[in-house]
Order: sequence, then C-alpha cells, then structure tokens
Amino acid sequence: MNQPFSGFSKLSKEEKINWIAKEYFSTPDEAKALLKQYWNTDEKIQKLHDEFIENTITNFYIPLGVAPNFLINGKYSTIPMAIEESSVVAAASKAAKFWSTRGGFKATVLNTEKIGQVHFIYKGDISKLELFFAQTKSSFFSETQSITANMQKRGGGILNIELKDKTNLIPNYFQLHATFETKDSMGANFINSCLEQFANTLKKEALHYNLFTEEEKNIQVVMSILSNYVPNCIVRAEVSCPVEALEEKHIPNATVFAERFVQAVQIAEVEPYRAVTHNKGIMNGIDAVIIATGNDFRAVEAGIHAYASRSGQYSSLSHAKIENGIFTFWLEVPLALGTVGGLTSLHPLVKLSLEMLEKPSAQELMQFVAVAGLAQNFGALRSLTTSGIQEGHMKMHLNNILNQLEATDEERAAVRKHFKHEVVTHSGAVNFIENIRK
Ligand code: MEV
Repeated sequence: MNQPFSGFSKLSKEEKINWIAKEYFSTPDEAKALLKQYWNTDEKIQKLHDEFIENTITNFYIPLGVAPNFLINGKYSTIPMAIEESSVVAAASKAAKFWSTRGGFKATVLNTEKIGQVHFIYKGDISKLELFFAQTKSSFFSETQSITANMQKRGGGILNIELKDKTNLIPNYFQLHATFETKDSMGANFINSCLEQFANTLKKEALHYNLFTEEEKNIQVVMSILSNYVPNCIVRAEVSCPVEALEEKHIPNATVFAERFVQAVQIAEVEPYRAVTHNKGIMNGIDAVIIATGNDFRAVEAGIHAYASRSGQYSSLSHAKIENGIFTFWLEVPLALGTVGGLTSLHPLVKLSLEMLEKPSAQELMQFVAVAGLAQNFGALRSLTTSGIQEGHMKMHLNNILNQLEATDEERAAVRKHFKHEVVTHSGAVNFIENIRK
C-alpha cells in the first residue's frame, strides 16, 4: 500500500479484517480464520474487548498464572501473574515457598502522594507572578470543587499546589506543581481533570489581575498532565533471616551463599549494565501482577526506572546486607496503582485477579506488587550466584522447544525423562527428538 487509508477506523471489524487479510497475506482466508479463532465465543465479552481500544481485530493472549504460598505480613496469599516468559511464575512460587518458612515477606507503604503539573510560559516580573499566585491560590482549590468533591469524601483530594520557577532551564518557563492523594484509584483522570481546571483558572485570573501588564496577563499554558514519576508514592518489601537459616538442598553453605548474594546486589548498585538486567528481573514480577490487576505497566515502568536513576546514575532497586549474622534483602519502588476505576471493574480477568487477592486497597496492591518484584529478584540472584540462570530457565523453556518441534506425547515424555538430570539446551532437545524420529 503506497497511500494512506483514510477512514479505516470507520470500517466494521469484519471489513477491517478483510482489508488486512487481502492487503498483507498470501493466504487471506487462513489469516482471517486465525484472527477469528482468537475471538471470544461469548459476544458480550468480545464486544467489551473490542471497545477497549480502536481498530480491534482480535485478542492477543498471554497466560495468566498464579504463584501461591506468599506469606506477606503474616498472611498467606496467592498472587496472579500475567506473563509470557516461561520461568517467571515458577521462580516466584519457589521464592514464595522458600521465604514462607523463614518469616515471610514484610511489606510497608511509606507514602502515597501523586503529582501533576501545569507547564506554562509567563513573560514578565517574577515577583508579580509570585504575588499573583499567593493571592489566587485559593481559587485553584475552589474552582476544582466539583471535581474533587467525591475524592474528598473518600479521604483524598488536592494536597498542595506550588508555583515553580523553571526559568533557569527554559526562558519564561514556570509550573504549577500539584500533589494529590487519590486513595484506591490510580488517579490519572482525577489529576488531569484538576490540572486542566487549574490551567483555566490560571489564564482567567491572570487576565483580570490589575498588577500585570498586558504581556504579563497573557499566560500561555503549554500543557497540563500528571507525572508518572512518583518518588513519594513508595512501597518497601523485605525479607530477612539468620544467615544459617538460608541453608537448604541447593544452598549447602549458607554463609558463602549470603556473601555472594550481597556482592551480586552491590554490583547492581554500582554498575549500570548489571543494574538494568537486575531491575529487569524485578520488573518480571512487578509487571506480571500489574497486568493481571489491570494497572498501567508503562506508567509503572517509566516511574520505576526514573526512580532507579534518581542519584544521577541508574542503579539497583534492591539492596542486601548481612549484619550481626542476619541476612536482609529489600527493595523500595514507587508505584501509583489503582484497585478501583479504569480496567479494574471492566476486564473480567482483572476482576477475578483482584478477587483472588481478596479485593485489596491500592496500598495493599502496592505491597503485593513489591513483594512479587522482590521474590523474582531473589529467585534470579539465587540462580545466578549458584547454578547459573540457564538450568532452571531452559527446563521451563523446554515446553516451548517441544511445541516448536510439534512433539507428540510420547516424544515429550521421552525428552522430559532424558533431561531430568541433564542440562537442557535447544540443540540438545532438537537432536534428541531427531534421534527418536529416526
Ligand atoms: C530474565 O528475564 C531476568 C534475569 O536476567 C534477571 C537477572 O539477571 O537478575 C534473570
């Protein structure tokens, strides 16, 4: 196709599929059949999914798994995880079980403040702008009353609004920097609505402010938007136990293990190349729970990586120490999450996941997510500092290899038996199957 298709979104779903199949596939009927095979048989559910986004043609599945045996603050939970990577749920479950006999996970929400900004251009006397802001500040609260009334009933609302002078960065650039408490909602809509009203109030009040010159009255709002960087919306998750209690079948020498583990974390603290991969492992756990519970993983990813760089150098989100014979491993991450609003009351599997977590508040969900991240990090570091990552990873990946090779049930049984005590490699599995097939 060499020219734009205007009006594509106006086509029916059937028409869109027909066009795509004809335009891009050598066997259009096969492509159409595949797309339809992934439709939900329940029309109501399919319609719901169709309407989440524009131009839906089918559903894209990823598995929803569960990791049981998570002892968190003295209570057992089963954590739902939506993820495609073979070893993640297995590693989470293993770490959960390991820590369940060593005191479990402790999780604490440190704070829950969200942030939004109105970015604007003001050309004039800064002290006059400061006076204007001090004199009109209450209007920003009063003129958002209709938006904040419900949130205030739930104990949330606008916490503060500050004027920030950013003219050292860009000429004439200022901000209204506002902080919010949004209780069990992630708060994006609430915050953005408040900010857009702040922008209107700002422009309107400036036009009527007698001390301003004509140029000063003409405030230009560039944009009003929440920030996904929430360094004051932090949850901490921790595990700890006496070093000798770390001992088990795969950890014959607990002291050596604990020391190597702490070194591995220290490397991620000082070495950005390692820190990125280390934190990626944490995000395996975090994203999986975020997706299963219908939260915005892009927002969470962006905010967490910004937090990991807050010192000016990208660093580990987790930390570990041995003090007085006690091994402690913990992480602190910013998480702006919701358990009401958004997808949480729409997507049937999100509702199910939240029910599995016993309908958590946003703060409780923050704790589950941070714990899943810490568990995942523990699992990865335990493998990396002992057997290496590939042993467990390839065992879990074996299914994918067998599926690629379209192995029969007998072939699968023979392969599993063979690799029970052997290291799995892709070529090893392929050769083994080829030999059987001969
Ligand atoms: C793989 O998805 C994640 C790991 O690379 C994390 C890590 O290296 O810590 C295993």
